[in-house]
Amino acid sequence: MPGCVAVGMQWGDEGKGRFVDVLAKEHSMVVRYQGGHNAGHTLVVDGETFALQLVPSGVLYETVTPVIGNGVVVDPIVLLAEIDRLERAGVSCDRLQLAANAHLVLSYHQVLDALSEELKGADAIGTTLRGIGPAYADKASRDGVRVQDLLRTDVFAARVESALLQKNVMLRGLDRDPIELDEIVDRYTGEIADRLRPYVTDTVATVNEALEADASVLFEGAQATFLDVDHGTYPFVTSSNPLAGAATVGAGVGPRHLQRIVGIAKAYVTRVGAGPFVTELDGAIADHLVDVGHEYGTNTGRRRRVGWFDAVQARQAARLSSLTEMAIAKVDVLADLDEVRICTAYELDGVELRYPPARMDELERVRPVWVDLPGWASTSAGLDANALAYLRRVQDEVDVPVTFVGVGPSRGDEVRFDGGIPR
Ligand code: IMP
Repeated sequence: MPGCVAVGMQWGDEGKGRFVDVLAKEHSMVVRYQGGHNAGHTLVVDGETFALQLVPSGVLYETVTPVIGNGVVVDPIVLLAEIDRLERAGVSCDRLQLAANAHLVLSYHQVLDALSEELKGADAIGTTLRGIGPAYADKASRDGVRVQDLLRTDVFAARVESALLQKNVMLRGLDRDPIELDEIVDRYTGEIADRLRPYVTDTVATVNEALEADASVLFEGAQATFLDVDHGTYPFVTSSNPLAGAATVGAGVGPRHLQRIVGIAKAYVTRVGAGPFVTELDGAIADHLVDVGHEYGTNTGRRRRVGWFDAVQARQAARLSSLTEMAIAKVDVLADLDEVRICTAYELDGVELRYPPARMDELERVRPVWVDLPGWASTSAGLDANALAYLRRVQDEVDVPVTFVGVGPSRGDEVRFDGGIPR
């Protein structure tokens, strides 16, 4: 049975959680493969809102095994709090599996994230301050501490001691308080380690055995294509690879298992944090979209920047992840506007580009080429001809079938188009 990947096509917050929720019920395993609790998935089920950060969305189905893969960076305190919240709401987390090889986000990563942003001043990235960048940096520089290290206090203490060597030299040099090894060891070993122990497994074995047994596995991406550390708008990106291909490394499966790749985009675009945004809007329409679309960060409460749908960006996302289909969220939010716009190309020095330029200085200079389409009324009674024409245009511009359309925030508020929007 092929694996399926769900990947964000823009700058995150595309509503991946709700589409993953739809896809999850057709799979027996849902695997997170990158990111950490910088992600925030909101699911509304029977009027109850679940904000998930680390636990894969599939946890809400008893038939699904949720897996946190080795590519995720895990804050153990956040994970346990999330498990507690879910259990209190009657959702069992007993089936959760946590990769022994996943790296930990520890409190000092958050200190370093804030310090890095502070030192950058006006050039700050606008990170979520969750410690994600410093945790991935430690992983790459061989100073990381992994989930499995938590299971042995002596190993954990030795790993943290080594990780703190350079950090404390730097902190002292900046006249900041050094990180106390004992405080870190006391905080994370003991109860936290004991409570996590039952979830810790060899998830590479679990996921591959499921695929070999013909089970259907869904790989759930966090953040999105243009926050990818390689292919996003660097340096205004996250520190992992959200692209579909990264599911192989972040879960430990070979690429031939990934066959269905669902790209998820909003019917417009949003971004939190700094960085280029070609189709960005301001003024009354921006305020309207923020207001109707509740465009404030799930995690940080920050107002999101908003803009029109960018087909150039979407085409690049389709290329980078070999998308086989697209889900378009929040089509209802665009309702009641006289006209809606799609950016179909970028213009750079008189030349029309169908894909974004690789150079950031050029990306900052491009101008959007627009097509204006008539707006539509409320989607509550279904998608009218204008809404369908808009979606068909998106589908044609990106050249990937649109198979799901989100028309409201709740489970069930989606329309399926098997095979794409009809002609
Ligand atoms: P970090 O991932 O916290 O290091 O933040 C780096 C950039 O990615 C910032 O612009 C964040 O706002 C953005 N970011 C990280 N996670 C998400 C997400 O889940 N949704 C939207 N933006 C995100």
